Amino acid sequence: MMAFTLLSVLVAALPVASCYPTAFQNLDQSSKNRTSIRFLAIGDWGGLPYPPYITAVQNTTAQEMGKVAEQMGADFVLALGDNFYYKGVNSVDSPRFKDTFESVYTAKSLNIPWYVIAGNHDHAGNVKAQIQYSKMSDRWKFPSYYYELNFHIPNTRKTLTIIMLDTVMLCGNSDDFEDEKPRGPANEVEGNRQLIWLQERLARSKADFLLVAGHYPVWSVSEHGPTHCLLQKLHPLLNKYKATAYLCGHDHNLQYLEDSGVGYVVSGAGNFLDPDIRHWNHVPKGSLKFFTGQASTLGGFVHAEVTKEEMIVTFLQAKGTSLYRTVLSRRQFE
Ligand SMILES: *[C@@H]1O[C@H](CO)[C@@H](O)[C@H](O)[C@H]1NC(C)=O
Ligand SMILES: *[C@@H]1O[C@H](CO)[C@@H](O)[C@H](O)[C@H]1NC(C)=O
Repeated sequence: MMAFTLLSVLVAALPVASCYPTAFQNLDQSSKNRTSIRFLAIGDWGGLPYPPYITAVQNTTAQEMGKVAEQMGADFVLALGDNFYYKGVNSVDSPRFKDTFESVYTAKSLNIPWYVIAGNHDHAGNVKAQIQYSKMSDRWKFPSYYYELNFHIPNTRKTLTIIMLDTVMLCGNSDDFEDEKPRGPANEVEGNRQLIWLQERLARSKADFLLVAGHYPVWSVSEHGPTHCLLQKLHPLLNKYKATAYLCGHDHNLQYLEDSGVGYVVSGAGNFLDPDIRHWNHVPKGSLKFFTGQASTLGGFVHAEVTKEEMIVTFLQAKGTSLYRTVLSRRQFE
């Protein structure tokens, strides 16, 4: 037991790298007997391009995230894109990093790694500058457009893998104000490179919990609806490789859907709220388990806890109190 604990500490301390063999992320070791990983997922949180550079929804959501991270625990945050409205940032020196991020998520409990991907609005600006900002901030972790995260669930022999995608590079940009569908990848070669990378990662994954995260939804009942490109390219892979769940933003509300044993989490209520349900009939019958985009929630986000047996997903509103909870089970291999 002692030897195993020591080994897992050593393995967990290996530096971050995305090359083979799999590298594992460091987790806070201060609680020695912990047996789970906890995290928050928040999308579309990117403030405004003019003073005060944040919205009331972002502000209240940030405060509640701080409380929940303290009470329920959080090892990291998944930031699911549209980090800076409306056109991303133009340089690594942009004041928006402070105005829309650092000075908003100020709770001590949120001083944890933020694993970031880009959304369509970020791609309207300089995504490389957001990647570079990882060198300027202790918590902003955006190593490349797409990447893989691996974790040992402490004091268990179980693992969690999260594959962070750039769905804008995969499917193309879109214009929110036109309700336009992604136009197809700007760079076909890059789009295919990412898809092959994803397929390889999924194919060889032995993780007990396998999550994929991107900005665009696979399934959504709201304004943007299902993303046709992801239904074609990603949905078959999630099924084939028995992914635990797919997490995304893009639509400005909270949704939970279940399709062929895969959980679909939409967490896009970090800055705006949209009760639109125009695509209600465009998801598989019976798949939608939970939806809210009501202004009265004041915003929302997701908390997840991964134990050796299950992943507990809780949808929370900025007003306090949880709205919906579901449990996903560990992947089973024959
Ligand atoms: C960890 O161990 C300490 C001391 O034995 C105990 O007080 C605490 O409740 C334990 N925490 C968990 C999560 O089991
Ligand atoms: C955010 O909320 C805090 C606490 O309620 C308040 O003091 C602050 O003025 C708000 N900031 C903005 C820009 O609305």
